[in-house]
Amino acid sequence: MENQPCHLLLFFLLVVSCFTAQIHGKKQTQALYHLYKTKQTEGSGIDMSLFKAIHNVDESKINPQEGLKEKDKIVKLPGQPQVEFSQYGGYVTVDRKAGRALYYYFAEAQNSKASSSPLLLWLNGGPGCSSLAYGAMQELGPFRVYSDGKTLYKNRFSWNYAANVLFLESPAGVGFSYSNRTSDYDKSGDRRTAEDNYVFLVNWLERFPEYKGREFYISGESYAGHYVPQLAHTILYHNHKANNTIINLKGILIGNAVINDETDSRGMYDFLASHAIISDETANAIIKKCDFSTNTNTNTDDCNNATNEAEKDIYHINIYNIYAANCVSSNLTVRPKKASILKFDPCSDYYVYAYMNRAEVQEALHANVTKLTHDWEPCSDVIEDWKDSSSTVLPILRELMANGLRVWIFSGDIDGRVPVTSTKYSINKLKLPVKTQWHPWFLNGEVGGYTQVYKGDLTFATVREAGHQVPSYQPARGLSLIKHFLDGTPLPDTSRYG
Ligand SMILES: *[C@@H]1O[C@H](CO)[C@@H](O)[C@H](O)[C@H]1NC(C)=O
Ligand SMILES: *[C@@H]1O[C@H](CO)[C@@H](O)[C@H](O)[C@H]1NC(C)=O
Ligand SMILES: *[C@@H]1O[C@H](CO)[C@@H](O)[C@H](O)[C@H]1NC(C)=O
Ligand SMILES: *[C@@H]1O[C@H](CO)[C@@H](O)[C@H](O)[C@H]1NC(C)=O
Ligand SMILES: *[C@@H]1O[C@H](CO)[C@@H](O)[C@H](O)[C@H]1NC(C)=O
Repeated sequence: MENQPCHLLLFFLLVVSCFTAQIHGKKQTQALYHLYKTKQTEGSGIDMSLFKAIHNVDESKINPQEGLKEKDKIVKLPGQPQVEFSQYGGYVTVDRKAGRALYYYFAEAQNSKASSSPLLLWLNGGPGCSSLAYGAMQELGPFRVYSDGKTLYKNRFSWNYAANVLFLESPAGVGFSYSNRTSDYDKSGDRRTAEDNYVFLVNWLERFPEYKGREFYISGESYAGHYVPQLAHTILYHNHKANNTIINLKGILIGNAVINDETDSRGMYDFLASHAIISDETANAIIKKCDFSTNTNTNTDDCNNATNEAEKDIYHINIYNIYAANCVSSNLTVRPKKASILKFDPCSDYYVYAYMNRAEVQEALHANVTKLTHDWEPCSDVIEDWKDSSSTVLPILRELMANGLRVWIFSGDIDGRVPVTSTKYSINKLKLPVKTQWHPWFLNGEVGGYTQVYKGDLTFATVREAGHQVPSYQPARGLSLIKHFLDGTPLPDTSRYG
């Protein structure tokens, strides 16, 4: 599953995509490391300037949506247990000329006040990874896939207990999302992603008009640390321009998020050193020889040698949860293995891959209606290039706070790829005064993590013993976090209310 030879190859052939020979595509964090390395390579051609929103949304991109909501209703997913909430899935065209459409899966809230619960968008990162593969089916969605790759069980910590949750596969080329003009895949980047995601949302709200004025929040992890603020910025820009609340955006929440290249990289090696994964010699060589501040070409052979040494040290572990077990067999089982939401199965990727590629599942989801020539992958094989990736999103975070949006940044504290040190260094760059001092937060009488609130308003919260995909590893803590975020209430500082 870890696809070691490819992973190793990466340090030598930085920009060559070596993933095609695999059984199935690259994983979330491999995709991210690939981008990190590419950005540090001379002549990568990636535009790293600050993100700018599109200025005009072409009227032709807003299409009539009558009747489409009913068509998107999912009667029942194959192998699904009985549930009380409604599910929808389908395509929203974001560019008619190109024939570009994004796929979404929507799980309405399962609680007594569903009709007033907020709307929450969830985005996975990569770039190129699917929010269905991770968010919906392995993290915070209402179901998980059994080891038979055919049947589903309930996630009692699903975030749709707190909100109406919308999962979007973006950009085109990810999961079921596609473009008939396949050259579009080579134009992927932060700007195109934000533009398409914005056009998706405006059209989706036409299709589901009852959500138009609803409180809206955007959440995501990993490289969605770019997507989420960039989409929020785009929404604010168009609300301002129209002098009208086109989308009632109230806040954002990002976890183990790519925020600021320099501090993200530095924080990663400091985490690996402080967790006894790399040697002091390697760590010191990286500190001395690597310059992550410019994000370009100044990195010497000495630096590369040291970072390659670090890669060898992490080679046999799961870098997005440094204490997790590896998946031993990628085989499905004839009968579902006993499964527990509280004990994440490291082979889950394989179960989800099998499930999503079943014809009857795609039919039930209203997905792959055009019979795409590639299979469904957790992380895209068809997106090979990334055109633009700003070196930082800190200015956007400042802007969101200045506009009164709620900004929460969380971090599973045993992720080694975008670790808690990276996130702390990035937040420190904002130089915000502290509003509520660092303290443990509690759930069920235990420490769920630590939190500090900054004036501005920004909440930082760690999630104890969670890897990169926080709700996979700590589902109860993840649900508690999202509830507090949506309610706008501080995480509890005593075990009494936990
Ligand atoms: C893509 O092409 C197929 C086949 O011609 C067509 O059915 C489909 O509607 C097109 N997709 C979009 C988004 O226009
Ligand atoms: C924006 O809208 C508000 C109220 O809807 C109105 O009072 C104000 O004049 C508008 N501003 C501009 C620049 O149109
Ligand atoms: C980097 O490592 C290679 C192979 O291990 C070695 O030949 C080379 O001299 C090293 N470069 C530096 C600058 O240390
Ligand atoms: C997985 O399946 C393959 C092919 O069917 C089989 O050869 C192998 O023994 C299986 N592995 C395990 C661990 O069951
Ligand atoms: C779409 O359907 C075709 C034909 O059944 C299948 O070969 C392909 O793998 C599917 N692609 C995706 C992305 O689901």
